[in-house]
Amino acid sequence: MSAPMTRGRVAIIGGGIIGLAIGWRLAQAGVAVEIFERGEAGRGASFAAAGMLAAGVESEPGEAALCALTRHGQALWPAFAAALEAASGIAVGLREEGTIEIALTRDDAARLRHSFDFQRRQGVALEWLNAAEARAREPQLGPQLAGAVFSPHDHQVDNRRVVIALRAAFLAAGGRLHERDEVALAVENDRAIGVRRGDGTLHEADRVVLAAGAWSAAVAGLPACARPAVRPIKGQMLALTMNPAAPLLRHVLWTPRVYLVPRGDGRLIIGATTEERGFDASLTAGGILSLLEGAWRAMPAIEELPIAETWVGFRPGSRDDAPLLGPSAVAGLVLATGHHRNGILLAPITAELITRHLIEGVIDPAMAPFLPDRFAAQPAAPAA
Ligand code: FAD
Ligand code: GLY
Repeated sequence: MSAPMTRGRVAIIGGGIIGLAIGWRLAQAGVAVEIFERGEAGRGASFAAAGMLAAGVESEPGEAALCALTRHGQALWPAFAAALEAASGIAVGLREEGTIEIALTRDDAARLRHSFDFQRRQGVALEWLNAAEARAREPQLGPQLAGAVFSPHDHQVDNRRVVIALRAAFLAAGGRLHERDEVALAVENDRAIGVRRGDGTLHEADRVVLAAGAWSAAVAGLPACARPAVRPIKGQMLALTMNPAAPLLRHVLWTPRVYLVPRGDGRLIIGATTEERGFDASLTAGGILSLLEGAWRAMPAIEELPIAETWVGFRPGSRDDAPLLGPSAVAGLVLATGHHRNGILLAPITAELITRHLIEGVIDPAMAPFLPDRFAAQPAAPAA
């Protein structure tokens, strides 16, 4: 366990939702904290995401420990959003209609029932709906419908607004943000002593938090023993434009192939592919086709909608799809990365656990299953 840090300076590598949320909480607690971001804060995966807070429907059989963390994280979101809006003056678009997951065929329905049973065993509140009940909630669902599940607590937030709000709240709380400032970890005598900036100068810190998302393994200066086993998992996405006064959809909708997320401003986000292609940022015909086709099968009325935007993002994937949280093999270096499909959902709980660890030296029981040393016997491959 790390020693408590009642005073001292913290440097955070990465200004995505994870680095910003930790930075905000530390600054609020009176810690001198600086975030180093090589681009613009909040423009990585945190900008690309769909903003679903889907601790229920996104939990897969075999992920009981992760489900406990995501449910804990989900419970923190309403108070986190309210505090963030109060601190920043920026609305973050938390919508609380819940999520509907549909099955189109009998095979889909059998798979949905399997996940439903697992999720219910984890304590997730879910309701099984027949086709008529699902259509009563979402009248634009297509003719092919073999059953559905309603998940009343799986809400959504506008992740792009969240990172803008976090940036403002962090600065208002006294944090310092360095953008367009790519840094390397500085280590001396097996201890992190700060970060080395692009111009070669050393910024000294008592603790360094690695929150560089999908790029975490590639940060220069990381000794092999502390390099997290995190890789990019590509996701292609697109947004259509609905009439905000008469939206086609109100709930977040999961179909067997894609999800659809209706925003208050009329954007309808459709995502996402899941691809092992390194940092290849190209949009592909096959990727966009699969998104549109998957969405159209569930809701044919989308075919009239204009395409507003297409984009690609990189999820920080770990070996077990769960985050790496806590002390690393290098003294003074704390990891907060590998959030994969759930980094928006897990930002408040990550900020709480990491802040507590840094200030009080505590490893909360909620963090224990996600300590980075769970992969110690399987060292990460060298970064390319
Ligand atoms: P990022 O937001 O990527 O931030 C990392 C930052 O580190 C970047 O800004 C980068 O520039 C910076 N950086 C890297 N190296 C350095 C360096 N050496 N020096 C300085 N800065 C550096 N999660 C959900 O909970 N719900 C969803 O609905 C959801 N949908 C998603 C859909 C897609 C298509 C994708 C791609 C992801 C989705 N996610 C979702 C996952 C979520 O977006 C991520 O888990 C989360 O954003 C990770 O946050 P982060 O701060 O770790 O990474
Ligand atoms: N959580 C949704 C995604 O990662 O695509």
